[in-house]
Amino acid sequence: MQDFDFDSLSLDWLRAKPGAKWGQNREVVNAWVADMDFAPPPVVNEALRAIIDAGDLGYPAWALEHSPALDAFVARSEQRYGWHTAPDEYRELNDVTQGIQIVLEHHTVPGDGVVVLQPSYPPFLNTVRDGGRRMVPAFGARDASSVTGWAFDWDRLEADLAQSPAKVLLLCHPHNPTGHVFSPAEQQHIVDMAARHDLLIISDEIHADLTYAPLEHRPIALLAPERTVTIHAASKAFNLAGLRYAVLHLGPIDLRAKVLGVANHLYGEPNLMGQAAAAAAWTVGDPWLDDCLRHLDHMRHLAVDLLREHLPQVVASVPASTYLLWLDCRALELGEDPSKEFLRRGVRLSDGPDFGELGLGHTRLNFATSSGVLREVVQRMATAPAR
Ligand SMILES: Cc1ncc(COP(=O)(O)O)c(C=O)c1O
Repeated sequence: MQDFDFDSLSLDWLRAKPGAKWGQNREVVNAWVADMDFAPPPVVNEALRAIIDAGDLGYPAWALEHSPALDAFVARSEQRYGWHTAPDEYRELNDVTQGIQIVLEHHTVPGDGVVVLQPSYPPFLNTVRDGGRRMVPAFGARDASSVTGWAFDWDRLEADLAQSPAKVLLLCHPHNPTGHVFSPAEQQHIVDMAARHDLLIISDEIHADLTYAPLEHRPIALLAPERTVTIHAASKAFNLAGLRYAVLHLGPIDLRAKVLGVANHLYGEPNLMGQAAAAAAWTVGDPWLDDCLRHLDHMRHLAVDLLREHLPQVVASVPASTYLLWLDCRALELGEDPSKEFLRRGVRLSDGPDFGELGLGHTRLNFATSSGVLREVVQRMATAPAR
């Protein structure tokens, strides 16, 4: 039974939101940045209200060795995946990308190679470039024979690594923007390759809880704990990105000692509200998440069906995870960044070229909305204004 209603969103309500997604461009329909249009889980709202009602927004209880949010993550990972970790193997942070930067700082120096899956979540590209690390691409391509519709060219990557070694494999698991879910066999292949080339794996698993059945998420740390750093947050699955809270699990003991040894004032301290929200999401948020996933499952099919009907030249396949749809718009001949033309048509999508060289002629559509808003998005995309 569906307890939460994800399909009744009005454009007026969305346009009154102050955040990045709707607050900047109120006259268009927004389907870009990876926030969902839904209100947060009621259990999260209750947890936040309880803090306000207790009248204490002062410093948090530092005497606690670790926060209830981290305890909740450890327990949930154990229960969901049989992944046994201990709170003292983690560092709590304000955001996922910061975790990647911290690990790159400790494990690499400028000029070292970092493997990044392409197309890529844009901040990965910026983090690697801004830190002066060398980008080693691992290319993804559509593949009708793959369960997810996507495959990565690991053979080509290995050939490249033989020529020009790298130190880190930055995995986006599951993968934004394609929604690719790495199968158990593919994960084993990745881990074996990492061992052959002595790569540290940084696995960003922020989209893990948005994997559609029958596929299942499995932390890659289960296969290679000694060479894997895992970064997670409740922010994507429970729609809490504004609250800034993430957890960084450090598998390699020497790296763990280095990262845990850095004073708090250098990395900042996690936000009390972010921790409370994540603790609620990870302990009592699953009924909401289950309903949300049921709705998103319907929306991922609807999005592809609507595109086939209204914009048949656009290539799109039903994603295996998350609420993002990677669109190949090259047949429309809208130039390198088709999102510019779609904006003129009244829809804001993500800029394809930001996702790297495979992003040219592409765009990303966020379908975490109601079916009514999604229909409006696709209809606007398909309607060229008179010139
Ligand atoms: C793969 C991935 N990592 C990280 C983030 C953002 O995490 P944070 O806001 O905590 O840096 C996103 C947001 O879309 C994402 O898709």
